Amino acid sequence: MSNPSLLILAGDGIGPEVMAQVQRIIGWFGDKRGLKFDVSEDLVGGAAYDKHGVPLHDDTMARAQEVDAVLLGAVGGPKYDELDFSVKPERGLLRLRKEMDLFANLRPAQCFDALADFSSLKTELVSGLDIMIVRELTSGVYFGEPRGIFEEGNERVGINTQRYTESEIERGARAAFDLAMKRDKRLCSMEKANVMESGILWREVVNEVAKDYPEVEVSHMYADNGAMQLVRAPKQFDVIYTDNLFGDILSDCAAMLTGSLGMLPSASLGAPMDNGRPKALYEPVHGSAPDIAGEGKANPCACVLSFAMALRYSFNEGGEADRLEAAVEKVLADGVRTGDLMQADGGTPVSTSEMGDALLAALDASL
Ligand code: NAD
Ligand code: IPM
Ligand code: MN
Repeated sequence: MSNPSLLILAGDGIGPEVMAQVQRIIGWFGDKRGLKFDVSEDLVGGAAYDKHGVPLHDDTMARAQEVDAVLLGAVGGPKYDELDFSVKPERGLLRLRKEMDLFANLRPAQCFDALADFSSLKTELVSGLDIMIVRELTSGVYFGEPRGIFEEGNERVGINTQRYTESEIERGARAAFDLAMKRDKRLCSMEKANVMESGILWREVVNEVAKDYPEVEVSHMYADNGAMQLVRAPKQFDVIYTDNLFGDILSDCAAMLTGSLGMLPSASLGAPMDNGRPKALYEPVHGSAPDIAGEGKANPCACVLSFAMALRYSFNEGGEADRLEAAVEKVLADGVRTGDLMQADGGTPVSTSEMGDALLAALDASL
């Protein structure tokens, strides 16, 4: 049988820097655990634009549809700020999500013990924190029509449309309820049913799906209150199910609870393929971090933990995913810190590749 296939799209800014560490880790699993992958690499975002004039080449899109999983670094950067909207780096990522139909974006926010003191919240509020945000990823205001900038009278108007069908809300809800069943069996749905019709429909559909999951305790929250509750008492949440835009914002917010955006992985999952595993793209929640790109300062943990999610959700290697997550935990417990995980007066940070060295040493020690 051939090896499982992995397409790596490192992208822009710190994307290639953090992905280089993941490549070393993929190599480690091949050498030490007999887990070989057929790895191919390609361009996305600004890097693809520089070569092809588009942020995602059709051949790359086709390849992404064929592989067992895609691993993405980050896209975007100031170099591309002036580009036409249609070819901006971010359009490449959005095309991947849309055409692969990756409707369920899993964004776990877990606080590693070693970082509890470092969170912007009090230690007791975040220690042991384990939230799973499920963000609907292929619809809502990111994709709704009509959209654009139009002339209206003597001025211009910018339009985006929040649009959700029942089936779009339902399939994401089922993914979220399925996860809740494997966790603490609590699900909080967030929308703004007080001001948006799409929110009213969202709430109705979630309640309908809930009937199939009688063991799951369901609650509803307006998303603005949800943002407040996330920083007031985050441990009240288990699974949060929310739309594309609210999920984008709430997950950045949840990231800081764990210490740094540089720690937060994500999995974007679609419908099952012929092999029963979901179509999937794994990526850190953070972006290309132009302020530190090229300096070897980036924290590779979010990208490494995204590969751990790939091991779990695409390759049925939950045990190896646990091993990799434990290696991250050990390295943090040993006090190894990239700059984003240090207080201003906190000593000397390690570089991206030194963090990679420490992770490989921790993996070796796990054998
Ligand atoms: P960002 O996530 O790139 O950076 C926000 C802040 O977090 C910066 O100060 C950055 O230095 C820090 N940071 C992020 N990741 C880090 C890491 N791994 N290690 C250490 N520090 C880290 O968000 P931004 O500045 O708003 O966006 C920059 C570009 O990235 C934009 O073009 C944006 O569109 C794009 N972006 C891409 C993705 C993606 O590819 N999935 C996600 C978010 C933003
Ligand atoms: C994210 C990013 C993306 C989003 C951008 C880069 C398209 O912020 O993955 O969180 O808005 O979804
Ligand atoms: Mn975001």
